Amino acid sequence: MKGYLVATWKMAFESIQKGQNLLKEGATIHKAVIEAVKTVENNPLYHSVGYGALPNCDGEVELDAAYMDGDTLGFGGVMGVKNIKNPIEVAYDLCHYKRNSLLTAGGAEEYARKRGYEFSDMLTDEAKMRYEEQQKNIDMEQLEAYGGHDTVCIIGNNGSSIACGVSTSGLFMKLPGRVGDSPLIGSGCYADSEIGAAAATGVGEDIMKGCLSFAIVEKLKHQVPVQQACEDVLNEHIARLNRSGHCPGSISVIAMDMDHNIGAATNQNAFPFVVGDMEGNTVLYIAINEDNKMSVIRPTQAWIDAYEGD
Ligand code: GLY
Repeated sequence: MKGYLVATWKMAFESIQKGQNLLKEGATIHKAVIEAVKTVENNPLYHSVGYGALPNCDGEVELDAAYMDGDTLGFGGVMGVKNIKNPIEVAYDLCHYKRNSLLTAGGAEEYARKRGYEFSDMLTDEAKMRYEEQQKNIDMEQLEAYGGHDTVCIIGNNGSSIACGVSTSGLFMKLPGRVGDSPLIGSGCYADSEIGAAAATGVGEDIMKGCLSFAIVEKLKHQVPVQQACEDVLNEHIARLNRSGHCPGSISVIAMDMDHNIGAATNQNAFPFVVGDMEGNTVLYIAINEDNKMSVIRPTQAWIDAYEGD
């Protein structure tokens, strides 16, 4: 697989098309990635990103986002923000500065307000209804990612520059203030235009324990092919978590090297991801894990029709 853009989850299909169109029109890789992430953030149908995301256990939507510019290694992130319409824009803004790269909650909101970013109520009626249903049976130790949706991560590479944007509401019914891997450099994403980029989706607490995105980029630095790098890092990490007696939650990763080669791996049965390829096509793939043997295929129409996730 080769491409200019790669993203986690089927929900990113239209956003990758948008990014591809922007690149065709001459946009920078940053513009393409940011606008692509915003397309997912703005869609109320997707349940763990931006508008329409599922709330924390107090019924409030708290969002995390991050951006990494592989040319400068500039990194920006916001954590636990409420009512910022497009958290990815604020994360991108912050990646231009040497200090104050990562802002939390009120501080991030104050910054966003001063910089003129749009605010909006992010809780939809559907998300509120699902919260009210879920409230009856909640076990904090069993919170799980997926259930068909999780973080959107988009990597873009124009041949000389690579960048990655990530946006999420984290775990549904999380404790207020809980932050996962997504806004943390090296865990949720990592990008270096001398090497490549990687990003992760799944249970943040488990991803953080292995700094998985940085670990994949380190493998690429040592010339491990990108698909192999994704599989090795994920398998080694899952094995380590198992040895610790800790049963790992769901984790999936994507990565791209500077030659546009793309890799993906998962510890789930099937993980959908989207590639904007070199011919201008937008292609849905699934990474499949069968008894720890990974394969990447194009899903059948029957699989797509039966897929209920985001
Ligand atoms: N991967 C998203 C989170 O755990 O918050």
